[in-house]
Amino acid sequence: MHNSPMTRAEGTTLVLGASGFLGPHVVAAAVAHSGAEATFADPLGPPVVGACRRPELAPLFSNPRDAAAWEATDLSAPGAAAALLALVQPECVVSCLALSRVDECEAAPELARRINAEVAGEVAGWCAERDARLVHVSTDLVFGAEDAPEGGFTEAAAPAPRSVYGATKAEAESLVLDACRGALVVRLPLLYGNSGGRELGASDGLLAAVDRGEDPPLFVDEWRTPLEVQNAAAALVELLHTGASGILHVAGSSRVSRYELGLAVLRAMGLPEAEAVGLVRATHVADASASELRPRDVSLETSRASGLLATRLLGVREGTERAMR
Ligand SMILES: NC(=O)c1ccc[n+]([C@@H]2O[C@H](COP(=O)([O-])OP(=O)(O)OC[C@H]3O[C@@H](n4cnc5c(N)ncnc54)[C@H](OP(=O)(O)O)[C@@H]3O)[C@@H](O)[C@H]2O)c1
Repeated sequence: MHNSPMTRAEGTTLVLGASGFLGPHVVAAAVAHSGAEATFADPLGPPVVGACRRPELAPLFSNPRDAAAWEATDLSAPGAAAALLALVQPECVVSCLALSRVDECEAAPELARRINAEVAGEVAGWCAERDARLVHVSTDLVFGAEDAPEGGFTEAAAPAPRSVYGATKAEAESLVLDACRGALVVRLPLLYGNSGGRELGASDGLLAAVDRGEDPPLFVDEWRTPLEVQNAAAALVELLHTGASGILHVAGSSRVSRYELGLAVLRAMGLPEAEAVGLVRATHVADASASELRPRDVSLETSRASGLLATRLLGVREGTERAMR
């Protein structure tokens, strides 16, 4: 799977964090946008390069499957981001790079700050110098100290996170926009959908737990505006080819509890309501461990995105039906 990219002076899209939950879908959407057919017949090399530490773990959703090249690199190392960017010379960068698990960030705050914030700033500095387009992915968890107002947080709301993860992602937003005025920072919500059998995201983990007969707990009092992961990737790649800058909220069109999202996932699998209800356990955030790190409501308001995007941001019913297809 690991192919070294030829140097491509123009037109290469670099996806950082390409092996995670979101990254492989962004790679696939970028490949589709490029119109690549027989990539390695292209003398300029593949139009999309994915970077991460372990490319071998990335599911290949792109069509053709080998249309992206892969670079294995630990971007937390000093100089690693600059070396990767100098090698690939991208015209466009989508950064899905993150230490994204809240508990891992609490346990390793310095590493979280390095990957989530400092490296993001370094990438943005390179993009500004080379006039490369940058879409940096952020999160609804930059909020959470207070509940979202009715209608959700707008882009004008001041970040107020609860966790090291949220704080480092909020710091990244400032570093990115300070270093690269033309960059677009896209805050995404809780994502669900196909993780290629890896139990990542809000639906695959649930389905696997149900399959194992685990009676998984789902919060009735934690509210999100979740988005299907392919829908998120399509929006990111569309935005890559606009001149939009600043902060943008890209989220699903329905505000639901984790419990409601879980039932929608099970219904989309074809289960009748009564059966779905019997497979999960309704529970409250206060009953969870480390509940102080869990924001109650980080719903995002998306009118700016709706005005910019041709990609329609799906609500939970349509999104789960698409994800389970
Ligand atoms: N998933 C969600 O529900 C959600 C919600 C809102 C926002 N987001 C944001 O969306 C983006 C993608 O999230 P995700 O869920 O796809 O995260 P993820 O599954 O944890 O993926 C993170 C990616 O970063 C790479 N990475 C981590 N440390 C690295 C290092 N030292 N060097 C090189 N690569 C490294 C990982 O690859 P390796 O492990 O192979 O290195 C992986 O490809 C993040 O910015 C996240 O904050 C996600």
